[in-house]
Amino acid sequence: MGRFIFFTFFSLVSLLAIFPTVIPQSKPVMAQPLYTNSRWIVDGGGQRVKLACVNWVSHLEAMVTEGLSKQPVDAISKKIASMGFNCVRLTWPLFLVTNDSLASVTVRQSFQSLGLSDTISGIQANNPSIIDLPLIKAFQAVVSSLGANNVMVILDNHISKPGWCCSNSDGNGFFGDKYFNPDLWIKGLTQMATIFNGVSNVVGMSLRNELRGPRQNVNDWYRYLQKGAEAVHSANPDVLVILSGLSYDRDLSFLRNQQVNLTFTGKLVFEMHWYGFSDGQAWLSGNPNQVCGRVVDNMMRLSGFLLDQGWPLLVSEFGMDLRGTNVNDNRYINCFLATVAELDLDWALWTLVGSYYLREGVIGLNEVYGVLDWSWCENRNSSFLERISAVQSPFRGPGLSETNLHKVIFHPSTGLCVLRKSLFEPLRLGPCSNSEGWSYSAQKTLTLKGTYFCLQANELENPAKLGIICTDSTAKWETISDSKMHLSTKVNNGSTACLDVDSENTIVVSTCKCLGRDNMCDPGSQWFKLVDSTRSSISTKSFLQMDSILALPGKDFVWKLLRSALE
Ligand SMILES: *[C@@H]1O[C@H](CO)[C@@H](O)[C@H](O)[C@H]1NC(C)=O
Ligand SMILES: *[C@@H]1O[C@H](CO)[C@@H](O)[C@H](O)[C@H]1NC(C)=O
Ligand SMILES: *[C@@H]1O[C@H](CO)[C@@H](O)[C@H](O)[C@H]1NC(C)=O
Ligand SMILES: *[C@@H]1O[C@H](CO)[C@@H](O)[C@H](O)[C@H]1NC(C)=O
Repeated sequence: MGRFIFFTFFSLVSLLAIFPTVIPQSKPVMAQPLYTNSRWIVDGGGQRVKLACVNWVSHLEAMVTEGLSKQPVDAISKKIASMGFNCVRLTWPLFLVTNDSLASVTVRQSFQSLGLSDTISGIQANNPSIIDLPLIKAFQAVVSSLGANNVMVILDNHISKPGWCCSNSDGNGFFGDKYFNPDLWIKGLTQMATIFNGVSNVVGMSLRNELRGPRQNVNDWYRYLQKGAEAVHSANPDVLVILSGLSYDRDLSFLRNQQVNLTFTGKLVFEMHWYGFSDGQAWLSGNPNQVCGRVVDNMMRLSGFLLDQGWPLLVSEFGMDLRGTNVNDNRYINCFLATVAELDLDWALWTLVGSYYLREGVIGLNEVYGVLDWSWCENRNSSFLERISAVQSPFRGPGLSETNLHKVIFHPSTGLCVLRKSLFEPLRLGPCSNSEGWSYSAQKTLTLKGTYFCLQANELENPAKLGIICTDSTAKWETISDSKMHLSTKVNNGSTACLDVDSENTIVVSTCKCLGRDNMCDPGSQWFKLVDSTRSSISTKSFLQMDSILALPGKDFVWKLLRSALE
């Protein structure tokens, strides 16, 4: 017996010394064009391609892609790729291609007519090869620069008449509005689809942004969007055809009763928009747990159900005030990111733009939702980019090992996941790409997959630990509150408490926050989402070996011996 323990002890210690090997998530080599496979967007090889896009604006009065007076287009494209985005939703106004009098207008002339001479010198300095191009050629130059940097493009018809979008009364909201002639729209879509036929990085066309206003109705939605989809597909069968909903792209609920009738398959995607202000000031005036529960249910009813029906759903706009001073936005984004992770949605952030040439009459308007700063040079807020990085690569989908299904414990307010560095250090938050797999059992234990080690509470306001007495009530984790994002358990003395993080990102267990109706408190630090993942996680090999040793009779004794030896 003594010899056995001696042997086991050293085996364990040596096994523990094997630092887990992290297999990095390799970026898939994308074979364009893209297709759909049930709710997933896939490449020609059938492998999932997760669209992690950023919106780049090109539909304002000047009809020139923003930022070209600040940085060379190639530098901006490289910056986009370096921030982890694999795609741009590039907006364009219909009149860019349908208005004959605009066909020959150059970038220089467009800014001259707006009286923006400083912008002209900026473009002259940063993009001399673009300044005297006709507007559509300048647009093509941007698409081609993105392509050269391996960035995919979704062309988004944002509006008809160039200018800031959107209101119910701007004449661009729905078929039949002052600037929204359905025939002209079909003509413009056809033209755009034709221009980019054969341009392989253009992977999708978003037919019209944020349908809205008093004229909107379901019958015309089917009539015109089906026509538009057919027109785009026949002009360019390679692109994904992306359809937006009513009421500012919030409402696709009518599809529950009647599907879109198209002659082609494998190319149809739906899009929806979801901001903090989509629900007014609800996040500010309500209790975030209740608001999150309600808003997510609503989203599932209006558009999220499409995933279950087997359609891809792209959140083509979301975003927040990146200064971190808008409480409504701050609360919303936690709930949003948790949902995006859980459903593993494709998305496009609003926006890349650091500042606009001219927006709503203001020259050089600073965009506080923009990932770039005013100068288009630096990141506006690098902690935000870290936060979204976990949802830039897929958690699951075709082509990712389906035998490796596990959970990661995602913490939306940091964008990090619960990680174990070693068995004897407290659990901490770290990059989700380094997360090992967890399993969540019917008995509500959270176990490191392939091991006996489960997440367990200790004392209140103390680090959580990995234990092996997993039947104890301190190892049982309920998802509670209206948001279902608190993981609640019992601490040693029998009190109820919640998983939390401290200021050092150590995983602790503390008093549950904001479970009442209080609107003054923010439960963000206690929000965790158990996300299904088939990403390659850390190698569980060392654990499996240890597991077999610990499965031997007397394992608890070995465990205790090991603990006391190392303490
Ligand atoms: C074409 O564009 C010009 C300049 O924006 C505008 O004045 C004119 O009304 C447009 N014509 C049509 C037919 O939309
Ligand atoms: C779908 O469209 C085709 C022609 O485009 C038509 O023949 C068919 O009746 C339509 N089906 C439905 C269910 O509306
Ligand atoms: C970035 O965002 C965080 C969190 O929202 C905020 O606390 C911080 O002040 C922001 N940083 C800058 C430079 O705006
Ligand atoms: C457990 O301990 C905490 C803090 O030490 C205390 O507030 C709480 O009342 C205790 N619960 C019970 C059931 O004793």
